[in-house]
Amino acid sequence: MKYLLDTANLNEIKEYTDIFPIDGITSNPSIVKREGKIKFFEHMNNIRSIIGIDKTLHIQVTSMETEGMLQDADTLLNKVDSQIYIKIPVTMEGIKAIKILKSRGIHVTATAIYGKSQAFLALEAGADYLAPYYNRMENIGIDSDDVIAGIAEMIDRYHYPAKILAASFKNAGQVERAFESGAQAATVDPSILKNVLEQPQITNAVNVFDSDWKSIFGNVPIAK
Ligand code: E4P
Repeated sequence: MKYLLDTANLNEIKEYTDIFPIDGITSNPSIVKREGKIKFFEHMNNIRSIIGIDKTLHIQVTSMETEGMLQDADTLLNKVDSQIYIKIPVTMEGIKAIKILKSRGIHVTATAIYGKSQAFLALEAGADYLAPYYNRMENIGIDSDDVIAGIAEMIDRYHYPAKILAASFKNAGQVERAFESGAQAATVDPSILKNVLEQPQITNAVNVFDSDWKSIFGNVPIAK
């Protein structure tokens, strides 16, 4: 199980990669928009500097046609680094781009996945990661768990080297169900992870431990 952060905010990336076990960073043009008119390549390089080369960095193309996607990919690989995962939406133009990029040995994350057939095509085209949109599928009545389980079954049955990087989450319950359904990784807004550990019950339990200890030993921790 791997957790990635779905943000391009440098402060969040610094703060939360330090706290949580994070495997990488994902973004898309809408996530980048939240950062305002940044210097895009400098910003992506800053993300890489924070996370290091061992973690995965997934950056989405902005062109809609195959040729433009390939040029976007070349530019990203030149101006960021050769280890990034190029995020390609699985459209008619995108699937062709995925095939070509994989024939060149480039890392690819197939994104904007709303169903099994779309995912199966991306698998067969050679994508390294598949990103089914959990919350967005739920919003239109698609059973996200069934979609993820179906993709996971085909990966297992035919031994594809691809992994499911589930995306588009609004709460921790959705992330849990995605993992249980067979996703190997999930990319989440940092607030989802923070909320998991900031429940009042957890704080209360820890406060009771603290006051019980202090009632006997005073304000002297074990280490003193
Ligand atoms: C992954 O990077 C996806 O683009 C992202 O998780 C989509 O999330 P949203 O449905 O909250 O926009």
